[in-house]
Amino acid sequence: MRVVELFSGAGGMSLGLKQSGFEIVQAYDAWPVAVANYNRNVGHHAKVADLGETLGIVPELLKLAPDIICGGPPCQDYSSAGRREEADNARLTLAFAVLVATVRPAWFLMENVVNAMKSETWAQARSILKASGYGLTECKIDASRYGVPQARRRLIVVGRIGERDGFLASSIAAAAAPQPMTLRDLFGATTPAAMYFPATSEARRSIWSPDEPAPTIRERSIRPLPVSYQPHPDDAALIANGYIYSRPVRAGRGVRSIDEPFPTMTRTAWERPTPRYLGSPHPADPVAASETAVLTIPQISRIQGFPIWWKWETSAKRDMLQMIANAVPPPVAAAIGCAILDREAGRSIPEVQGGFLQWLVRRGRSRPSARNVKSLAGRARRLLRGRTFDILALEIAALEGVAEFQAMRKTTQSDLRQALRLLAEYQASRGQKHRKQRQASAQPSANLAEAA
Ligand SMILES: C[S@@+](CC[C@H](N)C(=O)[O-])C[C@H]1O[C@@H](n2cnc3c(N)ncnc32)[C@H](O)[C@@H]1O
Repeated sequence: MRVVELFSGAGGMSLGLKQSGFEIVQAYDAWPVAVANYNRNVGHHAKVADLGETLGIVPELLKLAPDIICGGPPCQDYSSAGRREEADNARLTLAFAVLVATVRPAWFLMENVVNAMKSETWAQARSILKASGYGLTECKIDASRYGVPQARRRLIVVGRIGERDGFLASSIAAAAAPQPMTLRDLFGATTPAAMYFPATSEARRSIWSPDEPAPTIRERSIRPLPVSYQPHPDDAALIANGYIYSRPVRAGRGVRSIDEPFPTMTRTAWERPTPRYLGSPHPADPVAASETAVLTIPQISRIQGFPIWWKWETSAKRDMLQMIANAVPPPVAAAIGCAILDREAGRSIPEVQGGFLQWLVRRGRSRPSARNVKSLAGRARRLLRGRTFDILALEIAALEGVAEFQAMRKTTQSDLRQALRLLAEYQASRGQKHRKQRQASAQPSANLAEAA
């Protein structure tokens, strides 16, 4: 799939998408420093452009005809941002929605802070995108479940023309790791406590210490790292210390263990604790903040998911930290990218929610009959290769166009149609419930899928 990225920054999102198999054709950002770093590391796709000037960029985007438009419009925390800043951010989130709605690629992907969901801006952007025909999946994700040791909560919105809302939620949820990734997982992985070299006979052992010479390496040997490998001294020091300090948000804890994820990365991740914090530390700090290790810039970059080979090019440390903190961690973008590519290729099927079964039972079906309808709905979705349709008549027409369906007995065909009808009815009733809840709590976003 061909990608155009808006607000591309230094290229965290682009790198992840590229790694998952997308072709980046063009990227835009207003900040020349970020564009230079993008072009040096991701590829020469980025150029400087002010995307607030939507009309100027539309002809170029239409000509590029991307399959997907991606981007993370600037997103200082909506709740804590100043009025002026929020107004500027709002304008650019709307610019993103207007550009997507005008160019109308088959897909779009947007990243933002979780608080954006409650903003008037997202409510407006959302209605622009809905009016343009997109089905939306809105997920709150925690990056530490998607390949980085960082408890970074973000809003991910994936849109696809003609789909039902929530169409990709189960795939994004399924991509989440069961446990959060910790700093030790990242920096300690380079010093395993033991190594596995499969023995060639029962008389020999298979577990070896990294402090001894390895057995003879054979073709089938599994060797996570060369035995001579020495971890980088900074990583070794971090693991040996076991704790780091990060400036707390809203009177939270400042000291973290390396067996936890780092909190959301900010420009201040390298700072030592202030005298004020040292004088009045958080009572739950496991060790004194003054004893903790200090993160280096390469470590900060890796916690944000940038690979070791990535070269930051700027004389200002402040700019470097800003670009890192702004980025979508590449492993997060790669995981979402894989979910999109799998669905596009018909390799993944949206899960039929468990609530459907209870709904059928409440409407008078026996459990076995409800189970049968649920499984028929899943079968119909497989025949549709994972596509869902916002309009039931289109869904049934698409099903009837599938050769495998046409070869089925009339009764099976009618059961499959009926299962899709019931599923659509169930989803419409849920949609109504969500709309009512939203109006009651004045929250603008529907179909909120808790991915992780
Ligand atoms: C949250 S960052 C995006 C980071 C990017 N997604 C990544 O993964 O690295 C937002 C970006 O929007 C850019 N930006 C702000 N105002 C802009 C404008 N008017 N036109 C284009 N880009 C703008 C900023 O320079 C910043 O790089």
